[in-house]
Amino acid sequence: MKHNILVKNKEKQRACTQDKHLMASLSTCTDLVPRGCHNGACGVCKILVHSGDFEKLKMNRKHITEEEESSNIVLACRTFPKSDMEIEFIGKPKSELYTLGN
Ligand code: FES
Repeated sequence: MKHNILVKNKEKQRACTQDKHLMASLSTCTDLVPRGCHNGACGVCKILVHSGDFEKLKMNRKHITEEEESSNIVLACRTFPKSDMEIEFIGKPKSELYTLGN
């Protein structure tokens, strides 16, 4: 089953299947999502879910606190859509992450 996912900060939407995590479906549009690991390790795919239902795998606590998770802040690569959704990428790009400690 496909669901429409609106990426609010890009003002673009894309149909995503519920058997693939959001990063897998959305990354076919290269300008829509940041480049990332797709396995919960890097944190660049942090999103705020504005609306819609979803299922999620266990979040990496290095990137998503319990408080964030309960406020619908999750990793897109650990999240599967169960309805149309509106999301916003709020993670820092990798290049920014690498320069923070330098
Ligand atoms: S893409 Fe790396 S944590 Fe999601």
